[in-house]
Amino acid sequence: MPEKTLTAQDDLSTKMGTEFVIRFYRMLKGTAIYDRNNVAMDQYTQECLQAINPVIKSESHLFLKVVRDNCFFNNVKIQVRADNYPIFKGFLNEMKKRWIGEVEFEEEVSKEHLKDLIFLLSGLEENNESNYLYVKKQLEYRDIRHIHVGKLEFFKDEEIYVDSEDQKRRSKEVYFKSINMVKEVMEGIKNQKVVNIRKAKRLMQNAVNAIMQDDSALLGLANIKNYDEYTFNHSVNVAIYAISIGQRIGIPKKHLSHLGMAGLFHDIGKTRVPREILNKAGKLNAEEWEVIRTHPVVGTEMVMRMKEWGELSTRMINGAFEHHLRYDLSGYPKLTRKRKVTLFGRIITLADFYDALGRPRAYNRFPYVSEKILGLMMERSGRDFDPILVKVFINMIGIFPLGTLVLLDTNEMGIVVQAQEESDLIDRPKVNLLFYKEGQYRKGKVVDLTEKDETTSQYKWTILKTLDPNEYSINVAEYLI
Ligand SMILES: [Fe+2]
Ligand SMILES: [Fe+2]
Repeated sequence: MPEKTLTAQDDLSTKMGTEFVIRFYRMLKGTAIYDRNNVAMDQYTQECLQAINPVIKSESHLFLKVVRDNCFFNNVKIQVRADNYPIFKGFLNEMKKRWIGEVEFEEEVSKEHLKDLIFLLSGLEENNESNYLYVKKQLEYRDIRHIHVGKLEFFKDEEIYVDSEDQKRRSKEVYFKSINMVKEVMEGIKNQKVVNIRKAKRLMQNAVNAIMQDDSALLGLANIKNYDEYTFNHSVNVAIYAISIGQRIGIPKKHLSHLGMAGLFHDIGKTRVPREILNKAGKLNAEEWEVIRTHPVVGTEMVMRMKEWGELSTRMINGAFEHHLRYDLSGYPKLTRKRKVTLFGRIITLADFYDALGRPRAYNRFPYVSEKILGLMMERSGRDFDPILVKVFINMIGIFPLGTLVLLDTNEMGIVVQAQEESDLIDRPKVNLLFYKEGQYRKGKVVDLTEKDETTSQYKWTILKTLDPNEYSINVAEYLI
């Protein structure tokens, strides 16, 4: 389908299409928690019908088609807004793993028929190419002739579905390989050796692939702040946060790995700052701060001197030079001529700030908790940080980041292991419950805090407060990795 300029009609299609996808996806996810006659399920169905039937009245049919990472609504591509991106990603994932690429309604639909369709879809096995034939048959048996589903068109260059354990394992591999690679490259640079950039590029491409599938595993690893080697972890974390923000605001895949590279080496100039200053236990004096503040300029000069970066050079400079500039240019280095900070620079600034404040290190003994850092970001939004990116970032991290130890109203403790995709459910993540046995905490089951009690319609679990894992001698990493 050719790209064309936006018209009012396209705008309307995007609006209606977005509504449809959100509500359809909510129903589909609802089937995992509720049974067919549950009140919540009834309500979701009702809401979804309100997004279907008016379309059929005005356009005589509703046709949704998945093409790669896009949804077409009555043949118009839905322009996804940044804040809806996670929902679309989740929806596309659900469709892709079932090999369903088309849904069509030719006449107004009833509640029962829509439920039939949704429960049929939800019950499909994963990775079965002929699923669509099964749904077809089932709809025929029920004499539902006005609803059709179609097969997902397969494109060779993409992986359709990776199961979550495999994804976790791969993310872990990418993470720790990246740490070693950064170490190698940084040490190479320090000793003025020729460094192998190709390996770094390849790793960042793997990171982009993993993040585009599902960013929870890598974000989880980045959120664990108790690794030993600060500098290298910091570099990798900044790259991960940057790529994750980038994909949420729709930066194309190729540029995402460049963004990752720029994130990875944003502090390259620090290799020229004496160790005594970097690792100083007490407060830095004015002169020492002066030295630290040279690292963006020093880094930029280093990048410019190295031929190896090639086409990446400009991007690397964005990262190295701009990451302490701040949105309103009140940071450092001071510019003689005012200009705007580039998008890459603005993204890396946020990623850097979040990671730097969230960990213990020489001159920052007590790390801030995530909530506090996000609060600071909001406070400084528009001055230090790009306000739009701040919103995207907060949504991405959530108020209970992966790895947070929480106390629930059932008096159980648990660790946040997965965020919800809808931003209104941001306080109801998936939690791995813990139980205490023979002197230590052990892994229990994973529960979904959006789950409600069938009879009372009350949430089964609610987070009361966050706890400090060190106080309970719990190693959060074990639950995420
Ligand atoms: Fe820095
Ligand atoms: Fe940094």
